[in-house]
Amino acid sequence: MSPYELTRTLPEDATDAALRADVLHGLTQSPKSLPPKWFYDARGSELFEEITALDEYYPTRAEREILLDRAPEIAAATGARTLVELGSGSSEKTRHLLDALPLLHSYVPVDVSGSALTGAADTLLAERPDLHVHALIADFTKELTLPDTPGPRLVAFLGGTIGNLLPDERADFLASVRAMLVPGDALLLGTDLVKDESVLVRAYDDASGVTAAFNKNVLAVVDRELGADFDPADFDHVALWDSGRRWIEMRLRARRDLTVKIPELDLVVTFEAGEEMRTEVSAKFTQTTVRSELAGAGMELAHWWTDEAGRFALSLATAV
Ligand SMILES: C[S@@+](CC[C@H](N)C(=O)[O-])C[C@H]1O[C@@H](n2cnc3c(N)ncnc32)[C@H](O)[C@@H]1O
Repeated sequence: MSPYELTRTLPEDATDAALRADVLHGLTQSPKSLPPKWFYDARGSELFEEITALDEYYPTRAEREILLDRAPEIAAATGARTLVELGSGSSEKTRHLLDALPLLHSYVPVDVSGSALTGAADTLLAERPDLHVHALIADFTKELTLPDTPGPRLVAFLGGTIGNLLPDERADFLASVRAMLVPGDALLLGTDLVKDESVLVRAYDDASGVTAAFNKNVLAVVDRELGADFDPADFDHVALWDSGRRWIEMRLRARRDLTVKIPELDLVVTFEAGEEMRTEVSAKFTQTTVRSELAGAGMELAHWWTDEAGRFALSLATAV
């Protein structure tokens, strides 16, 4: 028997239906796009872990530095008994929080990637056999049914993943987080900060090509799940900074004129040579934009911590 609970809150075919709907919608729009959550099959989750160790990818190191410095303050400010983590991935940095929360009873990691969740739960329970782990395979942009665990709850959303949501999706998401909070609960939010363009672009276009492989992995997911015949070698990885929207955009650029068949959708898609398809945005923030987006969702910024170099921020917010 598994030493932890693993709950799938959506039926298997809901994920399948969501992928079909997203691919059909995204590839019949102009410009074409695919949502970033489909990067994260088992291979995509592994590639993301490789990205976090790259010299160019500073966000993970910067956020870890803040967690190591501030975890005792976070513990004192929240008294959390349950830690809910949205988009938890490997939960690798989360151990700094788990170590610092003396009253913690339950950890509820939530992710679309079942392989990331089981890997994380196995590793955590080997070190902390007394922790109650209720892993949820779920989409954090949809309504979540959380297990009945003791409060107060701390809802963590780390890694700057909030930046992968478009502005209207972010507003809806923050409103749904606000709806999860009862008095005494709090949100711990990791946001990457606006900085020099060259530093940002390097973080999403590393010299060894790991981010390029991660980006192209979405094509492998569509090939496997929907029988498509994308060849990742037909596309180049592109990362660019949009200074107006203050986000990094990852794209896949067709190297030549292409016709791609997606039999499961009964769809044929054409790309012109040079045509670009958006696969991810990664918005960057300032204290002012974080405060204002939280306020827009009915939350108040209670603490703002950055790493020493001011690259990344952790915010602690409560419901108003
Ligand atoms: C950028 S990674 C961050 C992982 C980890 N929190 C960290 O800080 O290193 C994003 C994580 O969110 C998950 N994810 C992306 N979109 C999701 C969604 N809509 N619902 C649930 N999980 C999602 C991915 O599987 C991945 O583990």
